[in-house]
Amino acid sequence: MALHRLNSLTVGVPDLASTMEYYRDFGLRPETDGWLSTLDGGRQLRLVATPTRRLVELEIGVDDPDDIGRMTRRLRALDLDVNADGDRLSVLEPISGVRVVAWVTGRLVQPHLPAPPYNAPGDPARGSTRAPGILRDTPVRPRKLGHVVIGSVDQPATERFFTDGVGLKVSDVVPGTAAFMRCSNDHHNVLVSQAPVNFLHHTSWQVDDIDEIGRGATAMLREHPERHVWGLGRHHIGSNFFWYLKDPAGNFAEYYSDLDCIVDDALWKPEVWDAAHSLYSWGPPPPPSFIEPDDLAALMAGAHQAP
Ligand SMILES: [Fe+2]
Repeated sequence: MALHRLNSLTVGVPDLASTMEYYRDFGLRPETDGWLSTLDGGRQLRLVATPTRRLVELEIGVDDPDDIGRMTRRLRALDLDVNADGDRLSVLEPISGVRVVAWVTGRLVQPHLPAPPYNAPGDPARGSTRAPGILRDTPVRPRKLGHVVIGSVDQPATERFFTDGVGLKVSDVVPGTAAFMRCSNDHHNVLVSQAPVNFLHHTSWQVDDIDEIGRGATAMLREHPERHVWGLGRHHIGSNFFWYLKDPAGNFAEYYSDLDCIVDDALWKPEVWDAAHSLYSWGPPPPPSFIEPDDLAALMAGAHQAP
């Protein structure tokens, strides 16, 4: 009886072949029709050709047709043109131009993975064995899509679309900058930040633990140091470990683990955070290009030329 997952993203990029290659290196499995799959979430990223990089579509899973009905009524109350047919709806977010599709689908049940044993002071949990993280040698594969972050030229309006219209819940807020919103038990699935142009900031992909973040990013950078953006670190809001990399189109892609989960809404207290906490708890300082990607001026010029 609710929204329960971020199903998939459709991302437009100018060079399909090189971007597909990048996400294959990232650990997603290419299908035959432009989709890429995660281990647990299945088909979660579709790449399509567009003149400039952008988020084209975002797909949300709901439990039953009543959820579609409620969502349709909320979106129409915002004067939006909703295409609904019982167990599926489609609507365009008017500021960013991102299409949101919601449909009735099963919940994602991930296999239970016990946390690897970590030695702690006074607690040699591993006994006389080496750390599992150093013994792994298989390529890293993300388990599921976690979240997407977009910039909007009218952040409050785009945020209202996702909260009042689609029905996402707010987990934490940085006033005037962003709201962390969820359509699942994850701390955030969608984040909209104020920006001088509408653009896709990053997509984020769950891996098992901090060692998988390190192993994945190290493998991605081995022959392509230019892919590095920011990491390793731990976010303050959401708590997750992170490492951000950049695809050939300029979209950031994040490996994450240990994100806060909100399994009981009543037990979570959304907080209002200041800018000092909005980015990270520890790690190297973010490069200026993380806040303002290098191609932002070009994207703005392109947006102004668009009909
Ligand atoms: Fe993120």
